[in-house]
Amino acid sequence: MRRLADRLSAVGPSPALKTVAAADALKRAGAEVVDLCVGEPDFPTPAHVADAAREAIDRGFTKYTANAGLRELRAAVARHYGALYGLEVSEAETLITAGGKQALFNAVLSLFGPGDEVITHSPGWPTIPEQVRLAGATPVVVRAHADEGFALRADALVAAMTPRTRGVVINSPCNPTGAVMDEHELAAVAEEASARGAWILLDLCYEQLVYTDRPHALPRVLFDRMRDRTLLAGSASKSYAMTGWRCGWAVGPSDVIAACNAVQSHSTSNVSSISQHAALAALTGPQACVAEMRAEYRRRRDLARAWLTTHPRLRCAVPDGAFYLFVDVGDLLSPDGVRTSAELAQVLLDEQHVTVMAGEAFDAPGFLRLSLASAPSQLQAGIARLHALADRMAQDGRLPGTGR
Ligand SMILES: Cc1ncc(COP(=O)(O)O)c(C=O)c1O
Repeated sequence: MRRLADRLSAVGPSPALKTVAAADALKRAGAEVVDLCVGEPDFPTPAHVADAAREAIDRGFTKYTANAGLRELRAAVARHYGALYGLEVSEAETLITAGGKQALFNAVLSLFGPGDEVITHSPGWPTIPEQVRLAGATPVVVRAHADEGFALRADALVAAMTPRTRGVVINSPCNPTGAVMDEHELAAVAEEASARGAWILLDLCYEQLVYTDRPHALPRVLFDRMRDRTLLAGSASKSYAMTGWRCGWAVGPSDVIAACNAVQSHSTSNVSSISQHAALAALTGPQACVAEMRAEYRRRRDLARAWLTTHPRLRCAVPDGAFYLFVDVGDLLSPDGVRTSAELAQVLLDEQHVTVMAGEAFDAPGFLRLSLASAPSQLQAGIARLHALADRMAQDGRLPGTGR
């Protein structure tokens, strides 16, 4: 009998893939689809970054690089954490990876295995628990709550620790909630993790997309308390509108970075030489583009949230970071109508041709995630269609023509 390896038994594909495929089918059939599900900037990659890539090709930088990445880029990553948080990082403590995703994957595979528990949080990015499972370890998920703005609380994370806890993976700013973890809360988690000899992995994919003035030097908090058990995963994807280039990085103790490098050397090898040159330009070139995109996401956040909450049955906290609205649609759901947010997302797609991510994808039923990385005109159109659907559901309690 043909069968897959056991490690795949509990792992599914990324939930976004299904939505994107359904939306593509509608588009091919001629429908005007409003896409609010995408997790990538609608901005083009900044011109000076794209120029650096073209130049890299013209100058013949089209061969393998060192597996761990170009020395100049590793040095630039080290300086980046100096500039952002005042950290002193050496080149040997950095690794260039295919996005933040591979930085985390290398680290999870290097640090965790069967019998280990790894704490993470929900609502959260689904890849984290899946990576932990792929490593053969057990994810332990701690819940954050809407009435607290989805703030990650130290007491909840610490309460989940057991003698088998080997690590904690924290994503801040958080996809999908936009919550930015409080420095004091992280400090309390770090004290406990360090006393237990557990690791903290910090997913900083959205670190440059923060809209609050509250201090959020989370890497500094960890470096001050447990530098030898801290791993940072960063990325050019969201800050520099470079999702397709696949360039991120890991920062951590040199022995763990060496282990991550070994994992990478037997899987993908170096990140594309051209992408590395582009990322180098992104990190070392003018940073005004980051500030401009951040200001625009913030503007969209405020606009879209204002549009959305004119509807009395939709609630949404103000996200402090990332580029998503995480909308509480609980008031639209009922046992004899549309029962779940997954069903609602499907009806929204089928009837109104709007794509969103259902909260179920983030282990958070009852919510929809709307991406602010879509143009304001798209956001306005998508929200108007969501309102229209909500009004109709309120009128009939049921959806005509759907049997629901
Ligand atoms: C929370 C979070 N972490 C990490 C990533 C990885 O992004 P990339 O691999 O493009 O750097 C994503 C992408 O959506 C994300 O949402």
